[in-house]
Amino acid sequence: MVDNEKMDVLFAEAQKIAMSAYAPYSHFRVGAALLCEDGSIVRGVNVENRSYGLSICAERNAVVAAVTMGRLKFTAIAISTPDSVDPVGPCGACRQVLGEFMKPDTPVRFGGSSKNQVNTTIGELLPFDSLHELRKS
Ligand code: THU
Repeated sequence: MVDNEKMDVLFAEAQKIAMSAYAPYSHFRVGAALLCEDGSIVRGVNVENRSYGLSICAERNAVVAAVTMGRLKFTAIAISTPDSVDPVGPCGACRQVLGEFMKPDTPVRFGGSSKNQVNTTIGELLPFDSLHELRKS
């Protein structure tokens, strides 16, 4: 069970790492902090490219980094978008990828530069997960 204080810590980590985003084209920095089942935190940022379509989101970069380290189970994620005032949720592709490794009740927090944050779950972000029958844990 991930409590509110832990989500505060996770969001602070996402805010910090967002400063490392490589976003010279959109000027929209994103930082993601994944809480792994072992208690460790793995971070990711968006990395853009001058061939725009090759840009990779922060959330997916965090997942790829964690899996590379052998961490496959995540108990929460926080996402910071400091260049928006209001919270901006993960894109559809990231929701699908997060859903691969997180149960529907896994907490998600996202927020921009204001105090206004959204607390939700993977299941709310990706309802009726059409391929869940295929997932082998
Ligand atoms: N972006 C993310 O990193 N995560 C999302 O879920 C939404 C979009 C990035 C991609 C691109 O570098 C910039 O934000 C603007 O779309």
